[in-house]
Amino acid sequence: MNNNSLVSISDISKEEILRLLRQARYFEANPNHRILEGRVAATLFFEPSTRTRLSFETAVNRLGGRVIGFSDASTTSSSKGETLKDTIKMVSNYVDLIIMRHYLEGAARYATEVTDVPVINAGDGANQHPSQTMLDLYSIYKTQGTLENLTITMVGDLKYGRTVHSLLMALQYFNPTFNFVACKELQMPVEYKQFCDEHGIRYNEYTDFTPEVINSTDILYMTRVQRERFTDIMEYEKVKNLYTLNASMLEGSRDNLRVLHPLPRVNEIAYDVDDSPKAYYFQQAQNGLYARQAIICRALGIDIPEMVD
Ligand code: CP
Repeated sequence: MNNNSLVSISDISKEEILRLLRQARYFEANPNHRILEGRVAATLFFEPSTRTRLSFETAVNRLGGRVIGFSDASTTSSSKGETLKDTIKMVSNYVDLIIMRHYLEGAARYATEVTDVPVINAGDGANQHPSQTMLDLYSIYKTQGTLENLTITMVGDLKYGRTVHSLLMALQYFNPTFNFVACKELQMPVEYKQFCDEHGIRYNEYTDFTPEVINSTDILYMTRVQRERFTDIMEYEKVKNLYTLNASMLEGSRDNLRVLHPLPRVNEIAYDVDDSPKAYYFQQAQNGLYARQAIICRALGIDIPEMVD
């Protein structure tokens, strides 16, 4: 196993998180620093993606490296029955870094056990999405000027949404207060609430998405109901449209409130929110480029400058 792998946000310390954020700031100012000349990264996407794959690939390209990989596993020999182990071992012969998304929880951890090449988890089932967390933290810091003492309201699919699981764990260092807004079928899993209890993190649970909750919030983190994780599509149909944010719902909100969403959105954010200065989800996705450049350099053990505002 390569110790520079990033499988779970809990793999890295508070100090490392803060260092990566300062390096993301550096890459935002210098996105074309060509320090990956001669390096090759593989993007192995066993599940669909737009932002994560394209921003990782852009990150490598802008740093002067090369990318190989696939975005559709049905075109690879895994469709002939090749195991994940064999796929990872094969790809490890060709590249310096593996960036992998897989539908199975634990797949990225497993990959680290069968290769010495660093592995970055680009999402494993409903489990973790640590690079998303780094861009979320970067976005929170940029919009709030701090990560400390914020009220974060997470809305929607808190059961299957891997981004909220990773973000919750990362914020343990920054004294957050969480509001979890979800229907009973999609509540935050018990293990994450236990994590909050063990780390002295305050949280409140709601099934109603009320003005009182919105108006006490600094970061409103909307999420999509993860249709692909449901075994019964009728269950999905029942819950898919329960929480939709529209512009009028932001009228009494704090000036500093920003709306985040890992994207893609389906019905969770009405299009009239896009025109609000509080909508930040497209800039959030852009921040992914800089955060992922920092993560890639960490994985490859490349020292880069840090920058503070
Ligand atoms: N946020 C996110 O993971 O988006 P993609 O599924 O498009 O990569």
